[in-house]
Amino acid sequence: MSNTGEQWSPSNYVTHASFVPALTSRVVSLLAPTRADNILDLGAGDGILSIAIASQAASVHCTDGSRPMVEYAASRVAEGNIANVTTEVIDASTQVKEQVPVGKYNKVFSNAAYHWIFGSLPSNEARAKAIQDVYDILPQGGQFVVECGGHGNIGEILVALVSVVKSAWAKKGVDKTYADIKAKLWPWYFATNDEIEEWLKAAGFKIELLEREYRPTTLNNGELGMKGWFDTFGFTFLEGLTEEEKHASIAEAVELLRGADWLEHGGKWVVGYVRCRFKAIKE
Ligand SMILES: C[S@@+](CC[C@H](N)C(=O)[O-])C[C@H]1O[C@@H](n2cnc3c(N)ncnc32)[C@H](O)[C@@H]1O
Repeated sequence: MSNTGEQWSPSNYVTHASFVPALTSRVVSLLAPTRADNILDLGAGDGILSIAIASQAASVHCTDGSRPMVEYAASRVAEGNIANVTTEVIDASTQVKEQVPVGKYNKVFSNAAYHWIFGSLPSNEARAKAIQDVYDILPQGGQFVVECGGHGNIGEILVALVSVVKSAWAKKGVDKTYADIKAKLWPWYFATNDEIEEWLKAAGFKIELLEREYRPTTLNNGELGMKGWFDTFGFTFLEGLTEEEKHASIAEAVELLRGADWLEHGGKWVVGYVRCRFKAIKE
């Protein structure tokens, strides 16, 4: 799956995904920003978290592979008159080395983006190279602090998505195999901790912490939350379908997920997120 840049919707993100930058106390505590830190944020999305971190740092460079997201983040920076946040479009899967000056940032940070970044790369060798690029632009003593979806993340949603995509294409007379879906429509790679450990060590990092957490996650907007999640994050799976077919597929996926993720008494969707977090040092 190649870069998803232009397909991201900042307004969907703000409406349906505000829980993403909000649920970050653990990873931000690992980052431990100080007034001496110049921080590069990769896959920074709508910029909300970059702006929050900047209040405790010397500066934050808020970057993302999606131009609409970066433009939205830049508008928030301008509106808030925030002097120590800059923005730039950077595809973190391939452009870190060509766009980031060596030694400019003493910390590289990322929340909820590396499963997309890894997903846009074709192999584990390419994923290891993306980590190596971060190592190469950090100064000695520099830190790399990340939270992303880990192996097992949103398992029930993946099953529902494969099922509805196969059935939508079957209705059009096309036999879409799992392999087709995985190769062309699947945007994520949820790495195991073993893989991440291997890539970090191969790059030369010392791993200070590497953890995996099952974190049931409440979606925004009550009953509408699951549909909003698909609109915001599931768009690549529905490529090639008509608007009507997309709508029907999402409705079918929502129904399939009711048994697993809908809390009838709480009136909310709670999804099976698995997070991987690490803090690695360039010694
Ligand atoms: C779930 S959002 C997380 C945004 C933000 N870090 C936060 O915590 O709210 C994932 C972001 O990763 C970005 N992204 C996906 N692939 C990327 C890539 N290859 N390079 C840089 N950013 C990427 C998307 O555009 C999106 O803004």
